[in-house]
Parts: sequence; C-alpha cells; structure tokens
Amino acid sequence: MSKTAKLILGNETYEIPVVTGSENENGLDISKLRSSSKHITIDRGFKNTGACYSAITFLDGENGVLRYRGYPIEQLAEEATFLEVAYLLIYGDLPSSDELAKFENDITQHTLVHEEMKGFLQAYPVNAHPMGVLAAMVCSLSTFYPESQDPNRSQEAFDLTIIRLIAKMPTMAAWAFKHSQRHPLIYPQNKFNYCENFLNMMYSMPTDEYFPDPIVTKALNKLLILHADHEQNCSASTVRIVGSSQANLYASISAGVCALWGPLHGGANQAVIEMLEAIKNDGGDTDKWINKAKDKEDPFRLMGFGHRVYKNFDPRATIIKKSCDEVLEALGVDDPVLDIAKKLEKVALEDPYFVERGLYPNVDFYSGIIYRALGIPPEMFTVMFSLGRLPGWIAQWKEMLDNGDPIGRPRQIYTGAVKRDYVSLSKR
Ligand code: CMC
Repeated sequence: MSKTAKLILGNETYEIPVVTGSENENGLDISKLRSSSKHITIDRGFKNTGACYSAITFLDGENGVLRYRGYPIEQLAEEATFLEVAYLLIYGDLPSSDELAKFENDITQHTLVHEEMKGFLQAYPVNAHPMGVLAAMVCSLSTFYPESQDPNRSQEAFDLTIIRLIAKMPTMAAWAFKHSQRHPLIYPQNKFNYCENFLNMMYSMPTDEYFPDPIVTKALNKLLILHADHEQNCSASTVRIVGSSQANLYASISAGVCALWGPLHGGANQAVIEMLEAIKNDGGDTDKWINKAKDKEDPFRLMGFGHRVYKNFDPRATIIKKSCDEVLEALGVDDPVLDIAKKLEKVALEDPYFVERGLYPNVDFYSGIIYRALGIPPEMFTVMFSLGRLPGWIAQWKEMLDNGDPIGRPRQIYTGAVKRDYVSLSKR
C-alpha cells in the first residue's frame, strides 16, 4: 500500500502522497495541494524541495556519497576518461568500446567553430571575463545551427547538437583565454585526445609548440570528471528550467554557464585563490580571517567552505586533495598559498563554529590550487568548471525533455502593496 502523509489545516485534513526513490529517499508530492487546499508551500532557495525525478546522479550529503548513474565517483575519477563519463551521464550506461570510439571520433570531427565566431571574440574588451565570453559564444552557436531550435527534431539531429557542443566547448574556452592574453588563437588538432587538445589550444603558440604533459592531462581528466554532474544544483536547475520552455540546448547551456559564474557556486574556485592571496598579502594570519568569517557583522565568508548538501565532507574534495598533493609534487611546485590553505583548513576543521554548522572544505577549495599549478589563471577557473559540468547539464536537459517535465513556473507569496488607485503625475 502506498504511504501518505496527513496535513491538518484548521478543520480540514489533506492526504499527501509519499514518493520514494531507488535509494529510499522520501518526498511528499504536494503538486495537487493548492487545488485541494488553496495553500502552496514556501521554501526559499529550494532547501527542501525536489523539482524533478532524476536517474542521473545520486548524492547522500550526510554520508559523503556521490554516484553517477550508480557508479561511485571514486571509481570513475580513478579509472575512467572524461568522455566515457560524459557518455555515461548523457545516455545512461557506460559505452562499449565501439560506442566510445564513435563518440570520441564524432567529437574530434566537430571541434572547429565557425570563423565568424572569431569576429565576436575580437569585439570583446581584452579584460572581458572569460565566463561572459564563453556564455555568449555558447548561445551564439544556436545562430549557426538554427535546426537546434526545432523542439521536434529527430534523435539524430539531437545527438549531433550534443556532439557539437561537447566538441566546441574546449575550443571556445581556450579561445576566450587566448583573447584575454592578446595571444593568437590556436586551432584544435585531431591528433590529440580531449584533454590534450584543450591544453594545446591553451598553451601552444604559433612559434612554440606545446607538448601536453601526461601528469597535467591526467589531473585535468580527473578534475573534469569530478565536476561532471552534481544533481539539482543552481546551474543544473537553471538549465532544466530554461530548457523546460523548449528553449534550445545552446541557449539553455549558456544560461547554465551564467548561473555557474557566481561566487557562491562555480565562481568559488576563483574566489578561493583570491582569498588565499589576500590572506598571504595581509601577513598570513589565518586566525584573523577565520574570525572575520565567524563575525555576523562582516559579510566575509570562508570561500571553499560549506555546501548546501554536504554536511560532513565533500567526497570530491577528498579525491581532489590527494590529486592536488600529487600534482604539486610531480610538477615540483612550491606554492605559498598552499601553506595558507592547509593552515586555514586545520583551524576551521577544529573550530566549533565550522564544526557545528557542518562547514568543510568543498571541491573548490582545492581545484583552484591545482589549476594554478597547471598555469591556468584564476579568471579561467570557472570556465574549467563549465567544461567539466557540460555533460551533466546536457544530461539534465535531456532527462527533463525525455520525462516530459512541464514548464518550470514556481508560485510565490505576494508581500507587496494591496490594491491602490493610480495618482496622476501632477498630483503626486
Ligand atoms: N564561511 C562562514 N560561514 C558560513 C560559510 C562560510 N563559507 N558557509 C556557511 N556559513 C554559515 C552561515 O553564515 C550560516 O550561519 P548561521 O546558521 O549562523 O546563520 C550557516 O553557515 C549556514 O549557511 P547557509 O548560507 O544557510 O547555507 P547554504 O546551504 O545556503 O549555503 C553555500 C551553502 C555553499 C552557499 C555556503 O556554504 C557558502 O557561501 N560557501 C562559500 C562559497 C563556496 O565555497 N561555494 C562553493 C560550493 S561548492 C561548488 C558547487 O557545487 O557549487
């Protein structure tokens, strides 16, 4: 027998169906509550609200569990390639070797972007933030592929849009970087794999060939996998809600890039390095900054600490911390901000303020340190996150359409002025 919950409002009792997921998490289905009771639920920031049914990513924040399509993140980060994980997220199962070879080959064949796109790039000021450039370029792809705007496109056309986006994203990301450096753009090369190709477009110069370092390529592959999906976070929810109006994939992903940009979400990785630099330049007194973060009168927060869903530890942070040590050692990098980061982490992990609130280092606390060691400048950190998150966004968008989810349209409790009459300008 299916379970129900009872809601008592005055003299009335309403039965609310209980829904249960495959990992036994429970929810109250209030979708019909307003029509029966004339009440809505209110939950600012959706802290306790499920917006969809999803079979992509399972996350248990209390126990630090993260799985893509059932596979533990630890196994995927250790053994898979980013494109294998992208296929898994988007299509639901790990690819066979033939499927993966085709997927990789299709992506390799679509890495070029139209030459006209270079014209847009040139028009941006040189200090333009690469996230703004990336979001605009992703959306611009829809103008080159108008068939992507047809909500009734064939499965083949749909798959081609996905391939194009995954293939062109590294080219656009690297070009946004090259533009910011006033360096000549480097074209993709088919001889490279996905990560190598991106690194080559970032670091090659027409006068100086770059050979992607295997340590760097491996670290990048891992970072991209760790960022590939994270269920209904701010940017994934944005992609789903924009896509729910049947806006095309490029437009929906561009909105996701914008949502990721903010320092409370993907922009935290840039903010972490800026914070560590500021602490270093201020004399390295970590206690002073911990106290600032605890002071309710001070808007400062310890960037890279805390998470909406992880209240014990972020499993991605555990993996990335290890990887961070390996990369720094292998590349022989001695970064003074790492010492600040370690001190900050130690103090915060023992401080009752952080312990009581379940505030632990998140994935972005370490990713910025690795990106810095790889020679990637801070303004590019969130672009790197976008590159990793792309398959997750695509998978969320596809699932939303496949499930026939209705257009996203929340309700509100209105708190504004009650009815009043217009007063003409001369009488005000
Ligand atoms: N430093 C100091 N205090 C904090 C912090 C922090 N980083 N994060 C949360 N708190 C406090 C907050 O002031 C509040 O205290 P109180 O209960 O006394 O009012 C309590 O902890 C709960 O915070 P909240 O803002 O209600 O929690 P939230 O779930 O809405 O916010 C968060 C989650 C990630 C936005 C927040 O922890 C934060 O701002 N962290 C810093 C930014 C950051 O690192 N973001 C990256 C997240 S990981 C990448 C991703 O997946 O997006």
